[in-house]
Amino acid sequence: MSKVVAGLHAHHSVLWGLVLALGLAGCNNTNAGGRPTNVDGYGSAGAAGAAGAGAAGTLGGGGQAGTVSPTAGTSGQPSSSDPLPCAVAQALITNCQKCHGTTPIGGAPMSLVHYSDFTRPAHTVPNLTVAQLAQMRLNDKVRPMPPGGTISAADLSTLNNWLAAGAPAGTAADLNCMQQMMMAQPDGGVPGPQPGETCYELQNHDLMTPGDKTPYVVSTGEHYEQFYFKVPWPAGSSATRFGAKFDNLAVLHHWLLFTSSKSVSLDGTHETVIGTQLGDSSQLLAGWAVGGDDVTMPSDMELELPDSGLLNLQWHFFNSTGAPANDATPIVVCTVPKGTRPHLVSMTWLGTENFNGPFGMPAHTKSSYSGTCPNDSGAPITIWSFWPHMHNLGRHMSSVVHRNNGMAETVFSKDFDFNHQVHYVNSPMVVLAPGETITSTCDFDNTTDKGVPFGPSTTQEMCYQFAYSYPAKALDNGVASLIGATNTCW
Ligand code: HEC
Repeated sequence: MSKVVAGLHAHHSVLWGLVLALGLAGCNNTNAGGRPTNVDGYGSAGAAGAAGAGAAGTLGGGGQAGTVSPTAGTSGQPSSSDPLPCAVAQALITNCQKCHGTTPIGGAPMSLVHYSDFTRPAHTVPNLTVAQLAQMRLNDKVRPMPPGGTISAADLSTLNNWLAAGAPAGTAADLNCMQQMMMAQPDGGVPGPQPGETCYELQNHDLMTPGDKTPYVVSTGEHYEQFYFKVPWPAGSSATRFGAKFDNLAVLHHWLLFTSSKSVSLDGTHETVIGTQLGDSSQLLAGWAVGGDDVTMPSDMELELPDSGLLNLQWHFFNSTGAPANDATPIVVCTVPKGTRPHLVSMTWLGTENFNGPFGMPAHTKSSYSGTCPNDSGAPITIWSFWPHMHNLGRHMSSVVHRNNGMAETVFSKDFDFNHQVHYVNSPMVVLAPGETITSTCDFDNTTDKGVPFGPSTTQEMCYQFAYSYPAKALDNGVASLIGATNTCW
């Protein structure tokens, strides 16, 4: 990847903020689903109410435990007339079926389980077979399958060789082997409630009233909906984990939970917004994306939560079923009284908001931008995990620690895919000694005809390396953010 702008550091100007606002006002007003969207994301909230949202309860009670992980048991049964070559079936289970299972999830439009799944016309390009389109997407540098291109070289060549040979059917022997493989699939599931935890549910719903449980009607196509809830836990609570009781996994793509500085009178309302709307002094608490895992703090850590105010639960829906669908998924936040566990964790935003100022990253060019965050807290800081966030042009994120002994240590380096945003736990954890710095660099490929500046719309770009670390807030240095974030460091 060629880098024309290396190691540019963030700096801010008032003028740039103005240009950003103008850029937003000019952005596209509809999305793939055809739903109306408002430009600033805040215009359509309706009825107000004051009652609390979210019923207290424990996760894992009754028959609902085990539904939090999306990765379990979607591989289906082979049909006797329809076998795939055994090695191909194995590569599909490993790399494709957590989304393209018997019931496809997260916006994946088709199953990739049986031989006949590959001979059908492709969903979006019906003059190609699924096999032909699969061959293209497997080798697509910009929109690879699996998302993020995270497939081993061996599995990639197994699939490529089979597709290049015209995707022939398997034999009776293959069928036998497939059946054995299916039986060996692990069951998945989630850990049950821990002693002392109280869990709260924030449910997707349709009516503009607090406590409403009517399923939300998900239009066809793709859109973002923000659901607002008054903080349901008592002051002095910390989070131990976040999950979801998936209702209609076929149309769910990802969720992000933010704090919000908006009025608590918005409790119970929801609105359609453009793209990954961060803003209104929000702090990201947690999230999940198809193919990813829930956020579960290690047993010696708890995550700082707001004591009061409003929460913004942002869902990205992706409905390729061809008809409106209902969804009543709650996300579940499990809490303990603050101080139950030794380490209080918070999230800090690393990265930069400066991509060549108001001009933006140059058109038809690959470029990179970084921000450097010092540990000026006077004590060691432990970073448990990283969560890169860019928009459509983001390709790669890296973080390098500059040690006090002069060494530069790459502690994070991953390709990025907007449609597959992953939370990565560090093993071992990254410890920053006092005086050490961490530089986070985003690589972009601006394939458009225009300069693309920083901004919250998906037609603009972002470069955040969200980091969960302890002691809480020690990493923050409060550098001004163009979208009002306060837990920043660059
Ligand atoms: C993490 C979930 C996920 C995984 C894993 C995944 N896909 Fe996908 N796939 C999607 C989603 C979502 C879409 C629809 C959006 C898009 O086209 O990018 C899709 C679309 C596709 C399409 C295009 C279908 C069409 O009609 O446009 C093909 C082909 C495909 N995937 C093949 C694969 C193959 C082959 C694998 C495994 C090697 C795989 N996918 C793994 C989620 C996934």
